[in-house]
Amino acid sequence: MKTMTEMTPVTQAATDATPVKMPALPDAQTVTGVKHWTDRLFSFRVTRPQTLRFRSGEFVMIGLLGDNGKPLLRAYSIASPAWDDELEFYSIKVQDGPLTSKLQHIEPGDQIILRPKPVGTLVHDALLPGHRIWFFATGTGFAPFASLLREPQTYEDYDEIIITHTCRDVAELEYGRQLIESLKSDEMMIELLGRENLDKIRYYPTTTREQSPRMGRITNLLKDGTVFADLGIDPINPATDRAMVCGSLGFNVDLKEILEGFGLREGANSDPKEYVVEKAFVG
Ligand code: A2P
Repeated sequence: MKTMTEMTPVTQAATDATPVKMPALPDAQTVTGVKHWTDRLFSFRVTRPQTLRFRSGEFVMIGLLGDNGKPLLRAYSIASPAWDDELEFYSIKVQDGPLTSKLQHIEPGDQIILRPKPVGTLVHDALLPGHRIWFFATGTGFAPFASLLREPQTYEDYDEIIITHTCRDVAELEYGRQLIESLKSDEMMIELLGRENLDKIRYYPTTTREQSPRMGRITNLLKDGTVFADLGIDPINPATDRAMVCGSLGFNVDLKEILEGFGLREGANSDPKEYVVEKAFVG
């Protein structure tokens, strides 16, 4: 996709009597890498504004210039950790989606818009201390957890980290599966996070529409106790368990009810409690 780079102002035009009129791209960042996982999913990396500070798990508004010349922005969780030099994002491709129909064509060297104002509730500050943390994701809701799983504080704060990811089919689990695998094999990650800390991760992927070793919506598997039996652990308990939830609206609503049923209360930055929720970017 060349549209954005073509819009970069040409500096030598300043010497002309009539400056070339080109819309300046506000808050531009340069794409450094793109990976397509399936025909519905891709991830990409961009340069990080020098001044941008964020907490692992937060999101920012990113996008492109729309046909009308105005920024077309959507909320995207930052999938990279706070210490990374670049920013990573994990996105769905919606063929008739106003943004992702275009965004899916970005290539290294292209520019995107990134508003450097991170916000969000999927942060450690919004939870009370606990022993075990659950990350519940569907689809691209894995993104904030890709950040938090690379964040040293996650391992300092908890003895056990359970990441569940429910997708339609096996290929859609791949981004998360490879990320967790790389954490455990990458020398830099092992040094940063600690090998014994990485052993705290319990990964629980499920599919709903394609055969795989674990089938079914995580919501059902929590309700009937299958998850606890599979992992050989006690059920969720508000004294010890904390949870972060990121998926579709319906998923978030269903999981909230389940967590409340276990006695967990929803927290916020200003009022930390036992669980927090955020809607994954959709469309
Ligand atoms: P299902 O195939 O039964 O709809 P999507 O790709 O549509 O965003 O869905 C991602 C995954 O989330 C799918 O496996 C889907 O299961 C699952 N899912 C969607 N809604 C819910 C929900 N309310 N509770 C649990 N899982 C859900």
